[in-house]
Amino acid sequence: MTIIRVSNAKGSYPPWEEYQTLCRDFWDLKIRSEILERLKGRHIIDLSSGFNLYHPPSMLLKQLQRDAINPLFYFPYESPGGQPFVVRAISAYECLRADNISIKPENVVLTAGTTWAFDCIAQLISIKYPDSCAIIPVPNYSGFGLSMLRFGIKVIDVGSSKGPKEPPSISEVEKAVDKNTKLIYLCLINNPTGVLITYDDLKEYILLAKKHEIYLVIDETASSLHNNHTVIPCIWKIAYELNATENIIAISGLSKDRSNPGHRIGWIISGKDKVDEVVKMNLETYAVPASLFSGLIIKDLLFRLFDDNKSNQCDIYNKFVSIMLGQLGPSWPSGSIIEKEFHEYLIRGVEEFLEPFKNFDILQSEFNEFQNWQSKFIEHVTENFSILKLILDSEIEEHSKMDAGYNIFIKLKLPHGINQQDFALTAFRTLGIEVLPGPIFGLLPCDWQESLGMWIRITLSHPHDIFREGLLRFKTLVHRYQ
Ligand SMILES: Cc1ncc(COP(=O)(O)O)c(C=O)c1O
Repeated sequence: MTIIRVSNAKGSYPPWEEYQTLCRDFWDLKIRSEILERLKGRHIIDLSSGFNLYHPPSMLLKQLQRDAINPLFYFPYESPGGQPFVVRAISAYECLRADNISIKPENVVLTAGTTWAFDCIAQLISIKYPDSCAIIPVPNYSGFGLSMLRFGIKVIDVGSSKGPKEPPSISEVEKAVDKNTKLIYLCLINNPTGVLITYDDLKEYILLAKKHEIYLVIDETASSLHNNHTVIPCIWKIAYELNATENIIAISGLSKDRSNPGHRIGWIISGKDKVDEVVKMNLETYAVPASLFSGLIIKDLLFRLFDDNKSNQCDIYNKFVSIMLGQLGPSWPSGSIIEKEFHEYLIRGVEEFLEPFKNFDILQSEFNEFQNWQSKFIEHVTENFSILKLILDSEIEEHSKMDAGYNIFIKLKLPHGINQQDFALTAFRTLGIEVLPGPIFGLLPCDWQESLGMWIRITLSHPHDIFREGLLRFKTLVHRYQ
């Protein structure tokens, strides 16, 4: 049976009031120090953090280090649309990824993190369409629903009839669409399950959005963390073929891909009207990401393209750089004069900044290092998956088929009816283990408690020894509840 739950526009998200208590406990320094005392020198281990704890690639960090002493970045605030070279690099990345379909710089705006991008979209929708609602196929990342409710947009959770390790079918989702629906939220790589949306499903979702004249908000967070066997579908290419680009709002960021969750870096790609509104919000709040990360983002995007086009990297490089260096133009409502003066004043810094992008051969050798990092990352996550299977094999009833990223959703062999709040609090208070159970990712605690069962997000990016120790401690808790 499909479970559909509607969150009151004034409620909280996930629709689990005790969630706030759980988080408060996790963050309470007094509680943490009491637990640490009891642990006698051992760590508190967060098995569900959702963070990428694997170190970022060193050649990107070197770029960051180089940019840190460039006077170009002594300016504390960036132009409201975001650093112009980065905006163009994102546009170049998307055009080349989508086989030269035009995604213009005016379709891109940088935001202070993905969560802030959610808030901007929520604000736009709530002003334009009062009484609107958003559909979230669950389980899913609850930060999006939280942003919607913050701006009075009702959230409708739709669960799959096949259980939480799979997303609901398109027809299950369509049943929840009504005249107030304004958007559907999807993660390219689901958080918590790690399941990658298929090309066919993405196509169906785009057609659904077009049919009902609503938006498909696609969150591409962590989508670069995949192995060579998984093909990441390109939203713009599909939307273009279906003549539905106007229905797409794509959101991305680096917080998970490059392990920098506290550094607010995100971006929105969409129609110019929406992008202009977000630029205005940025202008009014100064909430643009630190431009210090510009070189890192540009290199990252270029390497992702190299990765997808191993046979014609030189051609890709030439096209990418020419789009990135295109004429600085009047792309933003705040006017071109600011951009021009800003860059002329700091022209030396601009030259220094562009230096690392001038030599294809050097970039190519850095790319080899990047690839090496990517395979090590995948090895690391795969090894943790084996550790998980080894330690909790007889305690896990089933798990999601993780395709990419580093989160997996597991169902524990436990009797029905266990209070999820109790379970998570006991794990924390008695063993110093943090875990996030099902209701964090949508629906109501009673849905999980009475029918779906005890599902937990496990994050596979920890150092192996810490991960192993965390699982061994967690296993004792599962035994207590069995
Ligand atoms: C799927 C997804 N989207 C967005 C975010 C938030 O990212 P940011 O740190 O850029 O706000 C997260 C964080 O966990 C996430 O998992």
